[in-house]
Formats: sequence, structure tokens, C-alpha cells
Amino acid sequence: MHFLSINDFSRDQMNAIFDIADQITEGKTTTSLKEGSTLALLFEKPSTRTRVSFEVAMSRLGGRSIYIDKKTTQMSRGEPISDTARIMSLYVDFVAARMDRHEDLVEFANNSTVPVINALTDLEHPTQSLADIYTIGNAKRRIKGVRIAFTGDIAQNTCNSLMLAATKLGAEMALVSPKSFPPNPQYLTRAREYGVVDIFDSMQDGLAGADIIYTDTFASISDTFGKVDQDEVEKRKRIFAPYQVNAKALQYADKEVLVMHPLPAFRGQEITADVLDGSRSIVWDQAKNKLVIEQAILMYLSEKSA
Ligand code: CP
Repeated sequence: MHFLSINDFSRDQMNAIFDIADQITEGKTTTSLKEGSTLALLFEKPSTRTRVSFEVAMSRLGGRSIYIDKKTTQMSRGEPISDTARIMSLYVDFVAARMDRHEDLVEFANNSTVPVINALTDLEHPTQSLADIYTIGNAKRRIKGVRIAFTGDIAQNTCNSLMLAATKLGAEMALVSPKSFPPNPQYLTRAREYGVVDIFDSMQDGLAGADIIYTDTFASISDTFGKVDQDEVEKRKRIFAPYQVNAKALQYADKEVLVMHPLPAFRGQEITADVLDGSRSIVWDQAKNKLVIEQAILMYLSEKSA
């Protein structure tokens, strides 16, 4: 079983992962992976949180990890993705891959006999979304009915995965962005099959009643390493400026609103420093929960693949 997309997990499966995470957090489980288990982290983009947390997750589960920069592999000289996947399956028990193109990840997984985990592609960031939803559940004591307003670039990977996970679990999404930056139509259609997704171009309307305000960089890391040049980055800074999460934006939302960001953040662009570092921010809980959720995902995939 692979975890390439939120679509790969049912609502019950996501809840099973949250249960494992709870047990780990509460110290109720001594679960570990089979002795000698190894995770390959195959990354073609930079990472701080996802890389380090997966490495520590494996260590805490009694396994080990190998970080592989794609540039240092024979893939950089043209070895096919399919051959690389077959070779890695001979040596390791899991692969977590961060790839530019989601289709490359799918091809890798199709040729892998060990579980492959999406550690971010241009289309999705599903491990981030499970950590995000887990964080919301802990902070609000519920997921169902929670209204999450995502501001800024709503056509990117983190938003795609979050809207699928949130709606599947009964939360509502409000997507808030300029009309010239609409959401990914496939992800919007799928999320609307699961639940409520409203779209706004006004911060005041879009944030009304929001329990969570979620934002991310105006040019996501999948864009900044390839598709979006510096002119586009500057254009986005201007167009998205009214969608900055700042003290005024918080006043449009529920008085108990909490603020989320997957990090890394650009203080002063998509979010102000006072909000990111302020009392409404749960970004550090989000980052912390990546570790326990990744442990839970690894345990779950290990059990399902046994
Ligand atoms: N949120 C996130 O994926 O961070 P990294 O890019 O540092 O892994």
C-alpha cells in the first residue's frame, strides 16, 4: 500500500492513523517496526521539517533512514524512475519521496514493491495534511464542522491535500484568493463530493466564521524550484498582498480563531510576524505533530503491507 494522495486513505483509515498517533503521544504503545527496517528519503527539493521528522520517526520506531539527494543518484544521469524504484525495493522497506512532478512519484510507486509515501509533489502534500488535521483536532477537540479558511495561493499542493482531508472528515473549507488564481479544478470537484468548499475573493467574506485561518507561501516550493521565475514571484507578491494574514484579517474570523502555516514562512509576505509568533498561532504544534503522524503512517503502512 502506498500513500501518494489523500485519496489513498478513507475516512476510517485516516482516523486509524490518528488513533495510532494518540497512542504514541500518550505512551500507550511500545510499537516498533520490524528489526532493521529502513526508510529511503529520496528528495529532489530541499526540506527541513519533513526530512528531519521522518528521520527521527524511523529512529523512534527502531529503524533507520537513508537520505538521498536525487542529484547524487544515477537518476540524474538518466536511469529510469522505474529501474530506480525496483532497485530501492531490493534494499529498503519504505520510500518517502519529494518530487517535482506528481506523475514521477506515481511511476515510482507503480514500480516499487515497498510502500511509497508522498513527501510533497507539485500536486499534494498529504503527510502535512494529516499532521494539520491532527493538530486541528487536538486544538478544537473536533474536526466535524470546523471551518478552515485557506488564504493566498489556493491552487497549490498543501491546499489540494488539505481540502480533500478536511472535507472527507467533515470540516468545511473556505478558499480565499484573487479571482485570477482559482483552485485546481480536479481537487475542487473531488473535495466538493466529500463536503463544503466555498470560494471567495474577499478576505472579509472568506474569513467570516472561520475557526482556522491557514496560509502558505505565495509561491509554493514546488513552484519556486522550476516553474515560477522571479518576475512571477514579484507579481504574486503584489497580487496576493491583500490576502496577507495579519491582525486585521484575524478580526474577520471567529474570536477563537487559530492560525496555521506549514512553514517555512516569509514573515511580512503571506503572514505578519506578530500573527505567526502570536497567541493565535499553532504553527509550532503543526510542525511538532509531523513527527508523530509520520510515525503513525509508517506503522500503519507496515501493518497493511505485512
Ligand atoms: N512543511 C514542510 O513540508 O516543510 P519542509 O519543506 O521543511 O519539509
